[in-house]
Amino acid sequence: MADVTRRRALLLTAAATEAAASIVRADGLPQEHEHPEVPKAAGPPVSLRDFERLASGTMTRAAWEFINSGAGDERTVRWNEEAYQQLRLRQRVLEDVSHLDTRIKLFGRERPHPILLSPTSNHQLAHPEGEVATARGAGQAGATMIVSTFADKPLEDIARAASQPLWHATYLMKDRGRTRDWLRRAEESGCEAICIPIDSPVVGARDREHRTYRFPREPVSFLEYPADYWRYPTTWKDIEWVHAQTKLPMVLKGILDPDDAERGIRAGAAAVFVSNHGGRNLDTLPATIEALPAVVDRVAGLVPVLVDGGIRRGTDVLKALAVGATAVAIGRPYLYGLAVRGADGVRGVVNVLRNELEMAMALTGKPTIASIDRSLILPAAAGLPKG
Ligand SMILES: Cc1cc2nc3c(=O)[nH]c(=O)nc-3n(C[C@H](O)[C@H](O)[C@H](O)COP(=O)(O)O)c2cc1C
Repeated sequence: MADVTRRRALLLTAAATEAAASIVRADGLPQEHEHPEVPKAAGPPVSLRDFERLASGTMTRAAWEFINSGAGDERTVRWNEEAYQQLRLRQRVLEDVSHLDTRIKLFGRERPHPILLSPTSNHQLAHPEGEVATARGAGQAGATMIVSTFADKPLEDIARAASQPLWHATYLMKDRGRTRDWLRRAEESGCEAICIPIDSPVVGARDREHRTYRFPREPVSFLEYPADYWRYPTTWKDIEWVHAQTKLPMVLKGILDPDDAERGIRAGAAAVFVSNHGGRNLDTLPATIEALPAVVDRVAGLVPVLVDGGIRRGTDVLKALAVGATAVAIGRPYLYGLAVRGADGVRGVVNVLRNELEMAMALTGKPTIASIDRSLILPAAAGLPKG
């Protein structure tokens, strides 16, 4: 416990320094707007919500809308967070929590904690150093970063800045040669795994993004929608093809249904990644923490299961692990950290989350990741099977 308290004190000091430097954009661009939806709070960022509040003042309105928004009426975006808030934790007392251990093993490699960085595109919208700064921050925080196909910086530069494993999130291109090129580049850059986003055959109805950032939508039918080289209807055959192209473990990202999880494993998936793309594609999909139990129950023990979407607190991480996730990932929050203070901000966000996880573990009497199970969640509120 002493360790947790000391780390929190250090974090608060670091966060105060971050706050002082956070209000003006690093590239000198003016603050364009206020975001009334983000509650104001005085003081330094001590939570992911604080990073979000500060980030909203550091970037252009277009960049903010692109990063922060979701699809349609953004119900799934909200549900992703709210579903965690609905789950009630079970407290156990007087367990020995003097030594907290957040280590996990994934793909045979030990990692200091179970928090990864989901692939997100265009990091230069948040900070001029883009993904290179993200990789540095991820390294300092002991986090595995999943690099988007649509990174602003070359994968090779990102890899040079990384001190923790990288995965590459390779979108399948219409042109298989281009996909093959990405797989080769990922392998040559030392990536540890290939993560295939499989939930975006078309672009979602991202109204806020389309109003301010890009793709002003014409009132045309989907069939007339301009052909795009990367969003096209991929099938399981494409996944089997990718599997045959690389020796790296293949992670399928964007699974919500246990049947798809099982099918994915048959197609060669080394891990299943439960995700609804942060609510950016199809509004009214369920929250990922609601989809997770059925997927875990189907594939438990066969492959690791990852989950992202709406994770904003250490208690959320704890709940995802309790339901059966091997590891979790965050998207928007680390972009907020990046916007606020570059690599230090990314490190800050991961450290806050990890620290909150440790506190939550200590306060529920679970000293190790292996000791976390479904009994941690009170079933009445969760609608989950009994642990
Ligand atoms: C700005 C932004 C860009 C994204 N770009 C990608 C991408 O290139 N590839 C991908 O698989 N997912 C992408 N995602 C989805 C994330 O990987 C992740 O699933 C989602 O952000 C998790 O939800 P959270 O933001 O609530 O943590 C993006 C998300 C955001 C916010």
